[in-house]
Amino acid sequence: MNDFQKAILQGIPDTLPPGKPFDPEVSHAPVRKDLLTKAEKKLAVRNALRYFKPEFHPVLAKEFAGELKNFGRIYMYRFRPDYKILARSIQEYPHRSEQAAAIMLMLSNNLDDAVAQHPHELITYGGNGAVFQNWAQYLLTMKYLAEMTDDQTLVLYSGHPMGLFPSHPEAPRVVVTNGMVIPNYSKQDDWERFNAMGVSQYGQMTAGSFMYIGPQGIVHGTTITVMNAGRMISKGDGSLAGKIFVSSGLGGMSGAQAKAAVIAGAIGVIAEINPKAARKRHSQGWVNELFENLDDLISRIQQARQSKEAVSLAYIGNIVDLWERFVQEDMMIELGSDQTSLHNPWAGGYYPAGLSFDESNRLMVDNPEQFRMAVQQSLIRQVNAINALSKKGMYFFDYGNAFLLESGRAGADIFKPTGDYRYPSYVQDIMGPMCFDYGFGPFRWVCTSSNPDDLNKTDEIAARVIREQILVSPPEIQQQMNDNLQWVLAAKANKLVVGSQARILYADSTGRINIARAFNEAIRNGIISAPVVLGRDHHDVSGTDSPFRETSNIYDGSQFTADMAIQNVIGDSFRGATWVSIHNGGGVGWGEVINGGFGMLLDGSPEADRRLESMLFWDVNNGIARRSWARNPEALFAIKRAMETEPRLKVTLPNLADDGVVEGLFD
Ligand SMILES: NC(=O)c1ccc[n+]([C@@H]2O[C@H](COP(=O)([O-])OP(=O)(O)OC[C@H]3O[C@@H](n4cnc5c(N)ncnc54)[C@H](O)[C@@H]3O)[C@@H](O)[C@H]2O)c1
Repeated sequence: MNDFQKAILQGIPDTLPPGKPFDPEVSHAPVRKDLLTKAEKKLAVRNALRYFKPEFHPVLAKEFAGELKNFGRIYMYRFRPDYKILARSIQEYPHRSEQAAAIMLMLSNNLDDAVAQHPHELITYGGNGAVFQNWAQYLLTMKYLAEMTDDQTLVLYSGHPMGLFPSHPEAPRVVVTNGMVIPNYSKQDDWERFNAMGVSQYGQMTAGSFMYIGPQGIVHGTTITVMNAGRMISKGDGSLAGKIFVSSGLGGMSGAQAKAAVIAGAIGVIAEINPKAARKRHSQGWVNELFENLDDLISRIQQARQSKEAVSLAYIGNIVDLWERFVQEDMMIELGSDQTSLHNPWAGGYYPAGLSFDESNRLMVDNPEQFRMAVQQSLIRQVNAINALSKKGMYFFDYGNAFLLESGRAGADIFKPTGDYRYPSYVQDIMGPMCFDYGFGPFRWVCTSSNPDDLNKTDEIAARVIREQILVSPPEIQQQMNDNLQWVLAAKANKLVVGSQARILYADSTGRINIARAFNEAIRNGIISAPVVLGRDHHDVSGTDSPFRETSNIYDGSQFTADMAIQNVIGDSFRGATWVSIHNGGGVGWGEVINGGFGMLLDGSPEADRRLESMLFWDVNNGIARRSWARNPEALFAIKRAMETEPRLKVTLPNLADDGVVEGLFD
């Protein structure tokens, strides 16, 4: 047994490890709000000490109090392991259950320095998307996973391993809940308090559910969105050649826009106020060219337009200046969006026009009220410019970042006379009707050998399966499959892997099942050298109830209910998932969304064949059924097809009332 395996089996060490110096080279989570009373702070330390022998308490109590004071949380830095955390080959993890070993691989990927945003604070992405609350939880969970058998289930409460409970081989090996609180206690500051006390966490979507695969997922989603936006504006072949897509942000998720624009064949022009963020994306090859001067940028755009070059150009400056310059030049811009972090407008998510990056950073601390006014004035200017370009024919969409919401609150001219927003969200117009309602969503897999050769083989298998499916599919879904065929064929060349050997593509229920079945067979025949983990983003057909994003195209009034996400996770758990998770918060924030997901290990066995068919069918068709009950036409089409292929499926279909029957009833 090597040192890594010994360390995993040891769990929380018997002797106190030396303290760890704070490493300034690593990206650290921001200091969190100090909201706890003195009594609550004592409780937080007492809670943290529960993981350790009493003889450690005098030293650790002081240390943890210091962490709480300095960082707003108790991370237990001292217990961060010395070995490198990353997605190793599955056989390197000590285990008695192969399923549990696959989960160790997946959660390790989420904490890999090369993958995670703030690895020392156990944050994978999104600023606060936690895998665990502290290092004791990590150590204990890894030990349980290493020891458990297929007759046990590990129960995780917001990162805390409650323990191993007897179950059976068909049950999930792990059940994860993150941030589940009583609904009346689900405000942003409630999260701050509960998380500081060590009793709850924000798991984002794929952080606390061990399903993050680096930036590939967001590049894929953004590519699909930009391509489909291109089709909406085009009367011809939908090509984006020579067309301009303008947006802002080269940060965590927004950084994918530049790369996606090029993959989609467009000219991507992205403004980023933070020079460091822009240069980072440039050095990674995600942005082709940087500009600090608007004159140079405009002539480069015109040149690219003439030659129909697919290229990404970043403007280091404020998006408002860029929009206003386009208006001044009377330029035709085909596609527009915004990905500043407007879900967090007053603390650095949005930088107002007229102030430099540094001036804004000072003002938001020194004079928050003046900063707030500057943000609102800036949004008014931004919307005016967008409105002017939209009148010329630009198609603008909200990218799930609260742009419409905050612009409206700022008093910008963003409403139609009916009171609705002038512009749609990307789910309302694009992802909802074109993908989710047909059952297409972010299916993904990870090769547990951690060997790129296996990933290449899975790409080939997936491409073959999609080609076969295209031959027997109706015209309504040919485009979705062709897009994903092109994506998977180009995936290797686009060098999308960061961390585990993972791939994403959008597939419907039939596609997911056929691809999974083909993988399972290839594992059985030794073509793929080790098991494969299947999963998906929570941002999918059935997994997420989120009224301003995933379910924003539900118009029967049920968009504020969360039955779908809860039904989904319960249904997955008894149809063969290897692990399941359900979260409060993810994407749009704590209290705003309920979302869940699963992981499933394919090991080549007949049991895996049975499980994948049963679970994947439910995991997609649950959401289509709900979307069809909400009268979405694409979902009605898809659920009727599903009932034809599976006679045991009997879904309640809506009767559609004529407008004339209800109009005038309450006048
Ligand atoms: N990409 C997606 O698929 C997707 C989906 C849903 C929601 N979102 C939302 O998009 C937003 C961005 O996410 P992120 O992870 O990239 O956040 P981020 O904070 O890492 O990046 C946002 C970037 O915008 C820049 N910025 C802010 N104000 C600016 C201005 N006025 N002009 C130019 N640049 C400015 C910031 O410097 C920052 O680099 C979030 O609100 C997120 O929830 C994205």
